[in-house]
Amino acid sequence: MTSRRPAVLMLAAAAVVLTACAPAARADWAPPAWEPAAVHAAEAPAAIDAGPAGPLATVLTGVRLRNDAVGVQARVSLLPDTPQTAVFNAAMLQHVRAAIDARVAASGVSYTPVAAAVGSGMSSRRCELGSTARSAAELLADPAFGPSGGAGSAVLCDIVAARGPFIGESVRVVSGTPDAVAADTTMILYADTATGEIATADALWADGAAAALGAHVVDALRRDAGSLTRRPASPGDEAQLAAVRAALSTTIPVAEGFVVTVPAGFTSPELSALGVPANAEPMVLAVPADLAASLVTPFGARMLAAAGQPYTGPAVAPAGARAVDCALVPCVAVTYDDGPSGLTAGILDELARYDSAATFFAMGANAHGARDVLARMTREGHEVANHTWNHPQLPKLTSAQVSAQINDTTRALEAASGQRIDSFRPPYGEFNASVLAAAGLPAILWDVDTLDWQKPPDETLVARAVEQPRAGSIVLMHDVHAGTARVAGTIFQGLLDRGFTLVTVRQLFGGELPASGAWRRAP
Ligand code: NI
Repeated sequence: MTSRRPAVLMLAAAAVVLTACAPAARADWAPPAWEPAAVHAAEAPAAIDAGPAGPLATVLTGVRLRNDAVGVQARVSLLPDTPQTAVFNAAMLQHVRAAIDARVAASGVSYTPVAAAVGSGMSSRRCELGSTARSAAELLADPAFGPSGGAGSAVLCDIVAARGPFIGESVRVVSGTPDAVAADTTMILYADTATGEIATADALWADGAAAALGAHVVDALRRDAGSLTRRPASPGDEAQLAAVRAALSTTIPVAEGFVVTVPAGFTSPELSALGVPANAEPMVLAVPADLAASLVTPFGARMLAAAGQPYTGPAVAPAGARAVDCALVPCVAVTYDDGPSGLTAGILDELARYDSAATFFAMGANAHGARDVLARMTREGHEVANHTWNHPQLPKLTSAQVSAQINDTTRALEAASGQRIDSFRPPYGEFNASVLAAAGLPAILWDVDTLDWQKPPDETLVARAVEQPRAGSIVLMHDVHAGTARVAGTIFQGLLDRGFTLVTVRQLFGGELPASGAWRRAP
């Protein structure tokens, strides 16, 4: 108790001495100015909505598949097919294929595309906004992203940039179970849709960028810690460089430059000396455009320069004109016979609404009166095929009569639609070898008959058309029955919900129809 009082007195005395010694303030004195650190803390930029209601609805399509036997669910967004987007799209699909291959190897089950059960909710095909920011365990457990039962692999995506000709997509692959995540990798890929070049996020940066940026990160962190040194920061050791290289692979362009995310655990000798602890959480940092510009490749520089520009990439083609890999996703070809009729335009409206394609086996006798609707089919990407001139039983005709039925119809349909006709469907499905020889075209039949001509109740027709198809099926309907036209949209919606892609017969056969033979479904 007795020692406290003298100590206080001594401190007071010292204060008096110091005050007495202080020099008079100089009127022209200002504290020394240090430029702020170039790199600074930032928020992770929000992804761009790739959905049908978002700004990229008319420039992106999507692929989604789910295979419970193999244990995989995947979705990626794709660019419209042009020579300049081929490499980007192939790279995106390669993520999906690699995830499938890994699951095939792990499960011992071979992969074939399968449709899901009725009511599976598979109609959303695109990147779901913000999904890549969710935890791996959550994604594996979510039926919208993860494999069935939460064990297997999930491939998911977000669009991170769209400016000028540039688009960027982040693809994440998560494997394991919600309780034991085995792998979790993310790759961001950028495309220049004008030149066809692609670059992963780390490849936006030139050689030496990691060292230079690492020094800036150390400088920013030491200034945050109160350091006033002007000494250049050290680019750091191998561990530090590895952390910065990992950060470069997260590069996303923003209005002011780039944003990178430095993984948790970043430190350096200089920071340790200042008592700065390693970051416990990933650190989001903004790299301003002027600094970034000195460290990037020409591709990266062009992307920086496109800041603020609206996206100028190609617009999507109609559904029937797209490249679809029916060995990867479950496809179904919906076909309509005996038209066109006054009901056909309504079916085309529904196809447009559901961004889907169909094939119309039209009769030659109807062609002249349906020139507009046949031309519209071609414009909107649908396939027109031959259903004879006036619907005879072909096996009862001579070869010359069969040829006339087919060739006159082909000429009339080609004139009206403007597309090449290179398949036919024999009325009533009746044909024999001499009919095939005389027709000179492959006969496209069906494996799912909705019997719509019997005018079943709407719900019966919908159930037949939605529940019976499997991957590769050809569904028979007729665009001359009111009920068929009335439930067209409901059927498309039901098939999409099962995960089907609705394709033309040509797409079902991989883009090229067989030269001959009779086909009930895709091989
Ligand atoms: Ni018919």
